[in-house]
Parts: sequence; C-alpha cells; structure tokens
Amino acid sequence: MSKIHAIITAVEGYAPEDVIDNEMLSKMVDTNDEWIMTRIGIKTRHILKGDKGPSDMAKIVVDKILKEKNISPDEIGLIICCTVTPDMQFPATANIIADKCGIKNGFGFDINAGCSGFVYGLTTATKYIESGFVKKALVIGAEKMTSIVDYQDRATCPIFGDAAAAVLLEATEEENVGVVDAILHSDGVGVKHLHQVAGGSCHPATIDTVMNRQHFIYQEGQAVFKWAVVKMAEVTEELLERNNMQKSDIDYLLPHQANLRIIKATGERLELKPEQVLVNIQEYGNTTSATIPMLMYQNKEKFKKGDNLILTSFGAGFTWGAILVKWAL
Ligand code: UT7
Repeated sequence: MSKIHAIITAVEGYAPEDVIDNEMLSKMVDTNDEWIMTRIGIKTRHILKGDKGPSDMAKIVVDKILKEKNISPDEIGLIICCTVTPDMQFPATANIIADKCGIKNGFGFDINAGCSGFVYGLTTATKYIESGFVKKALVIGAEKMTSIVDYQDRATCPIFGDAAAAVLLEATEEENVGVVDAILHSDGVGVKHLHQVAGGSCHPATIDTVMNRQHFIYQEGQAVFKWAVVKMAEVTEELLERNNMQKSDIDYLLPHQANLRIIKATGERLELKPEQVLVNIQEYGNTTSATIPMLMYQNKEKFKKGDNLILTSFGAGFTWGAILVKWAL
C-alpha cells in the first residue's frame, strides 16, 4: 500500500469588521502612528466586540470550508482549535466549534502553543492523517486577543488583533504534495518573558488579580524580540537542510506576524525577495494562532501546484517551528 500524505484542500479566513487604528490608540495611551509604524509596522487591528468568542469567528470559517468543498459535517474526523484565548477555560473551543458547525462524528481538542499554535496544530493533524486514524481534519487558528490586551499598556496594546482562519486537511496517496516535513521546538525559558499571570489554577481570578491587571498579556518585548528574530530563520534553515533543499527552493515564506522588523530580518537571512515573504501585519496586527492560516487564505490564488511554502512561527512558551508544504491545489 502506498504511503498516505496530508494535503491542504481548502483554506478560509475571517476578521471582524470593527478596527482600532493608530489614531484611536493614541487617544488611549501615550503613543503615535510614527512609533508604531517604525517599531512594529501595524496600522490597524480588527476587534471582535461583545459576548462573542473565537468559536463564533471559527464557525464562519468552517461553514465556508464545508460549503466550498460540498462536504457534510459528518465527514470531519478531527477538529483542532489552536488558541490562547479559548471561549472558556473548558471545555475545549474545538468542541464548541464542533457543536456550532454540527460536527458530530469526529473528536476535537485545543492546542495552546502561543503564536506557534497553528504550526503545532497542522503538524499534529498531519500525523493523524498519515497514520490513517482520520481522513479529514480541520485545523483552526482562532483568537480574540483583544480580550486579554491591556489598553492602558502602550507596550502591548498596539500589537494584537482578532481573527480566525482554518485549513481542511485530507488524506491522499498522491506523491510529492502536501505537508512534507515539520520541525517543532520549545524552551520553557520563555515563560517568564511572555505570559498571563492570573486566570489559571495557580492564580484564579480574585478582586486583587483584577485590580492588579493580571489578566492581561505580560510581555518583555525586547527579550522576546531577540529570540524571535533568530529562531524562525534558524528552524527554517534546519528544515531545508533535512530535506536537501536550498534557500532558493522556497517559493513563499509564511512567517508569523508579530513585528515587521522580525519578518524582514527573517526574509533577509533566508535570502528571499520581499515579494516571497508574505505579510499582512499592517492590517491585522498579531492575531497569534491565526496569522499563518490568514496569510495562506489571502494569498492562495498566488500559489501554484508544487510550490514550496514554508510556514514558520515563534511564540509564547517559547515555542517555534517550521513546516514545509508542497501546495497541492
Ligand atoms: O507573537 C509572540 C511573539 N512576540 C513577539 O515576537 C514580539 C517581540 N517584541 C517586539 O516586537 C518589540 O520588542 C515591541 C514591539 C514589543 C517593542 O519594541 P521595541 O523596539 O523593543 O521597544 P522597547 O520595548 O525597547 O521600547 C523602546 C522605547 C521605550 O522608551 P524609553 O525607555 O526608551 O524611553 C518604551 O517605553 O519605546 C517606548 N515605547 C513606546 N513609545 C511609544 C514602548 N511602547 C511604545 C508605544 N509608543 N506604543
């Protein structure tokens, strides 16, 4: 029997209509458009208002995929939701999405790998497909980052936004397409630099945790920057070497969107032309697990069958990784 491969057969994305631009932020904290554009490269970020969560954005995306592919929810065997902002602490947001989309024949769980969520999720789903355990899997990156952003902290509030995007992964026996290889890394040295202090079981919500603003993102930006600017390029080089590929074999790089300076430095180290390095940070900011599938969704018309895409990320944990995808459509 030939080997089973996992191929991406559909990709969709969604960002809420409401936006916060730099002008609006400059009325909330001591900042300005010039600082944000030079240091981060973000103009606007989309925000999900009201009592809605990542599952509501994910439902829009998953419904689009099911309709586009003309498949029944019953055919989905696995649903992975990559998120650091789940609808609730439990159950998993994947189960809430499954319920909202009528997916009853599969199983699902969440992956929390910070901004590397999608890279971890796609790798995990690929293994389930390759082993024959499931035939169709949804991998979703869905985040309501603005629910944990402190709009009194000028160092973090310009960075994050909300969005959801997802891929459908299917089994095929076709050779030389799909998810070819992946390398994942993590190092707990990053915990102290990027985390949310309260809301977990160590520090459940109390009046004090709320008053002390401990339910928001805590980030030591420079420490995270130093790691991110090296690790995405390094793991991509590791992946290329393992697959006997040269930098010139890359058609498109889909890097996590945390800071335009990190994205540019990564592209330069990999000797890529600017048009090969996909970017949408200007409009969406950092949507954590959703950045990479959103980039894929927005650029899918550009990709040709057989193109080598590299997906690479760095995030809280620290976590980082890279995936080689040979575009199958
Ligand atoms: O996605 C997960 C992974 N996350 C990342 O990859 C993020 C990595 N880090 C970064 O992208 C950058 O470190 C930040 C964008 C977070 C910050 O940029 P930076 O160039 O590292 O700035 P900084 O923290 O070194 O601050 C430089 C100065 C400080 O002022 P002083 O001390 O030099 O007087 C800050 O107080 O800029 C000040 N500053 C601001 N000024 C205007 C910080 N935030 C702002 C702001 N507007 N919003």
